[in-house]
Amino acid sequence: MFILHIALQGCLRARDVAYGITSDTGGHIKYLLELIAAAEQAGVARQEVIVRRFRDPKLGDVYAKRKERISQSANIVRIDGATAAYLPKEQLWQEYDALSESLAAHIRGLDRMPDLIHAHYADAGRLAADMKAEFGIPFIFTAHSLGRLKMLANGTDEVPDALRRRIAMEDHAITHADRIVASSRDEAEVQYATYPSANTARISVNPPGCALAEAAPTDHDWIDPELVREINRFLKSPELPPVLALARPVRKKNLIGLVKAFGEDRALQQRANLVIFAGSRDDIRFEEEESRDVLLELLYLVDRYDLWGKVALPKRHAPEQVRDIYRYAAAMRGVFANSALNEPFGLTLLEAAAEGVPVVATNSGGPNDIVGICEHGRLVNPLNLADLSSAALELIEDPDLWDRCAENGRRNVGFYSWERHVQTYLEDIDAILNPPKPAYLSGQRYGHLLVSDIDSTLVGDPAALTRFGNWQARADDYCFAIATGRSLHSALDVLRRARAPAPAVLVTAVGSEIYYADDANMRTLRADDDWSAWIAEGWEPRAIAEMIATHFKFERQPVVDQGRFKLSYFVPSREAATSVRQALYVARLPATAVYSHGEFLDILPPRASKGEALRYLADRFGVPADRTLAAGDSGNDLAMLEVAGRGIVVANHTDELACLRGRQNAYFAARPYAGGILEGINARATA
Ligand code: GLC
Ligand code: MG
Repeated sequence: MFILHIALQGCLRARDVAYGITSDTGGHIKYLLELIAAAEQAGVARQEVIVRRFRDPKLGDVYAKRKERISQSANIVRIDGATAAYLPKEQLWQEYDALSESLAAHIRGLDRMPDLIHAHYADAGRLAADMKAEFGIPFIFTAHSLGRLKMLANGTDEVPDALRRRIAMEDHAITHADRIVASSRDEAEVQYATYPSANTARISVNPPGCALAEAAPTDHDWIDPELVREINRFLKSPELPPVLALARPVRKKNLIGLVKAFGEDRALQQRANLVIFAGSRDDIRFEEEESRDVLLELLYLVDRYDLWGKVALPKRHAPEQVRDIYRYAAAMRGVFANSALNEPFGLTLLEAAAEGVPVVATNSGGPNDIVGICEHGRLVNPLNLADLSSAALELIEDPDLWDRCAENGRRNVGFYSWERHVQTYLEDIDAILNPPKPAYLSGQRYGHLLVSDIDSTLVGDPAALTRFGNWQARADDYCFAIATGRSLHSALDVLRRARAPAPAVLVTAVGSEIYYADDANMRTLRADDDWSAWIAEGWEPRAIAEMIATHFKFERQPVVDQGRFKLSYFVPSREAATSVRQALYVARLPATAVYSHGEFLDILPPRASKGEALRYLADRFGVPADRTLAAGDSGNDLAMLEVAGRGIVVANHTDELACLRGRQNAYFAARPYAGGILEGINARATA
């Protein structure tokens, strides 16, 4: 396999990368070099990295070299643009035509065509799309960060030209890419959703490895005494555990919210210190405007809440000390807090996990996935200061909980390895190069349709799931579908981690989205656009959200759990859900309101539900209604358990399904989880 990477920005070199030497010499280079090394390890025979050649003696001579060796099988190839000087990313657009020509010439001169191009960042995506048009080489796109997010964060209508160009290029790359690699579900389902061209089924969520998590343990068990002295000189009671934060002093990191949360919470102040490493500074007045404002505000708040002696704000730390900072927090039985308004990925949470520090993390962005997988702490709404501080206090006050989180983190962070990343990467590439035949388009017919819920139905008993998998592998006559409240990428993640058999169809977001999986790894997915067009009719999410905000004070679920056709809330009771239904009716806002688990309320288009999706699929695959089966455990399964030829209720069901007792099509299994599903299927066969 021959992979050609394109990465045009910054000062990329084979080794000793001077991170930060220009503002474009950043994380994407580290990511790329680590990916290349891991791909080589996994047997990728040849890799080339295309970068722009430039001459700038101040930056170094190597960037003028045409070729540089990275390793035995990987090289950097520098191609010429229209000019020779170093250019920051905002000015690179003047070079694209020239770079595109140089790259085409380079590819023509190669002894063989690359199998695949991997474009890193928007501008590389533009070149990759050109090469696809010219040579038919498929490409993967990794944005690394997205222009539209920056635009939304800027919060003004005036979009600078450079940003506007970048967003247009991203849209172009998204349209033409064969696959997009995202690091988190938030990136895949929230951030990309802001682009008109986005298609979530073509995105693969594949988090990077974490170097710190993979690093060998230190050979000493002391913590840099210099560091400890630097922290302790701020503190009246240095023996208390720290609430630790480590983030640049920029607004979106919300260090201000963290200090306020600490300042408002007397109990937390008595049990813990607040220790904030906010980059390195000399004279605050000479910092960039945003950092200066944030730092001054932090100092002001320390004074305002009179937190002197309780907050440490060390002036600087060296990169080599980062690991010891976490080790200090672990040794002191503290917690790590990431209170960012949005955290695109959340590397610090992995570092905390690796060193055994429990976390309190923002529920906006990548941390949803990380805390979901590592299970090493709590997710909170970063704007809810009381939640933030009480979650920290709970972890500090409950030694068993603390121990469990510390241990979970150390154990589960192993998931974030480059080895695992590359395995997924190669599966994605394989699906691109050898596309499977899309079954559902070829008029596939089945004798039966089995639609199962995931949480507490399909998964929950691993041994029973294995038995179910064995049955499913032989049940050729059954179309196996799942129907879940989760989003697509969340569903894929749990199914994979539970080693569940791959369904042919995924009904997600409580029956409001339908996807077909064309291969056994669920790497080739297609959205059912007919279904979304059908349910879009009469759907007025804005008006509904407004109505609920005015009449009910329900908390909205995190942004990652909102869907194009799904508004989700936390509600106190079944009665609350009933009042919402009435209010929707009175306001003439047609919608389906689904209540489950005693706390969730999902509002969907009037034509959407797990039950409607089941009917639609039965029709699509030519399965008569009496040969359809549904399996579930809770309120959001009710609709499909009612309409299926047989509704299998697993033994561990919630009492939201008690209303099905006595119904002719309902089968109440004696066994829980997947064992109950198998029981229900067999009961049907013998009936
Ligand atoms: C899943 C979804 C959530 C939904 C719930 C019930 O947990 O993530 O948004 O409310 O299912 O359907
Ligand atoms: Mg369930």
